[in-house]
Amino acid sequence: MIEELEELRKRALEDLGRVQDRKLLEEWRVSYLGKRSALTSALRGIGTLTPDDRKIVGQLANDVKRDIEEAFDGQRQSLDRQEREAELAREHVDVTLPGRPLLAGQYHPLTITVNDIVGAFRGLGYDVVEGPEVEWERYNFSLLNIPAEHPARDRWDTFYVKPTEGLAEGSVVLRTHTSPMQARVMERTKPPIRVLVPGRCFRFEATDATHESEFTQIEALAVDEGLSFADLKGTLDAFVHAVFGPERRTRFRVDYFPFVEPGAEMAIDCHGCHGTGCRICKGSGWLEIMGAGMVHPRVLEGVGIDSSRYSGFAFGMGAERVAMLKYGIDDIRIFQQNDLRFLKQFR
Ligand code: PHE
Repeated sequence: MIEELEELRKRALEDLGRVQDRKLLEEWRVSYLGKRSALTSALRGIGTLTPDDRKIVGQLANDVKRDIEEAFDGQRQSLDRQEREAELAREHVDVTLPGRPLLAGQYHPLTITVNDIVGAFRGLGYDVVEGPEVEWERYNFSLLNIPAEHPARDRWDTFYVKPTEGLAEGSVVLRTHTSPMQARVMERTKPPIRVLVPGRCFRFEATDATHESEFTQIEALAVDEGLSFADLKGTLDAFVHAVFGPERRTRFRVDYFPFVEPGAEMAIDCHGCHGTGCRICKGSGWLEIMGAGMVHPRVLEGVGIDSSRYSGFAFGMGAERVAMLKYGIDDIRIFQQNDLRFLKQFR
């Protein structure tokens, strides 16, 4: 029996050397330490021995059992460690690798342009306000000296909004320009007034490279005592130099807008040819960027401002137009196409 036990221990330890995973380890445990193992039956058999033998064999059996158990624990710990190490190796992070670039958002080229323009006018003391995109016909037209049925309305191809019950047909429109904010601001603010109004406008357009049915305008309004056309020109020159560069020249020509008198359109000299004429400016040497003028006395009176005491000037420019000139973009429709190849160029 002593030999058997010694043999058993030897075999168990040898076998254990070959156990390389948990499943085999468990099988090994069952066969050497389980209820049906040779060791368990040997321990059970001890009771049948004489007291002297029992002492010697019992001692040995216990030693063997302890050795086998210790070996088992040792092997289990080493398997645990190996597994943990393998896991760590799998999760290993190389902290010296360069980071992956974060996909950070960025401003839309139009936003950049609007911010540039807003920045230029903030420096001149203008406040920025915004107005409703769905507007009363009264603000979009009537208060701007464009009465119903007046042919001047043809200049703005309008989206009429279906009126709800109780409202007259044609009384609500998608604003065709930011000029309605002139009336809204003057209604609630006493002069002196200096405001800038960026915002989305809508016109019923056949779209092409220079026309979109949704576009962005930036309106400016100044009302004060003694403002003259010279103030308007000075302001616009300062703006053009801030946004397009100090070497740019401006040109004012008479134009008609019912809400200004006199009215003008302003152009800047073409960046492609500096005024001699090229493809960009279609040979004229100039690029028109906005309508402008002195606020019509009727508009002032319409919102309760005394036109014998106060005068004002206003202008409105297309932000897409400015962005196109600044960045050399040749199709207005690209601003709304969400083409990342285009948008990513504006960092
Ligand atoms: N609102 C005019 C337009 O959309 C532009 C303009 C604004 C003209 C202010 C004069 C003064 O065409």
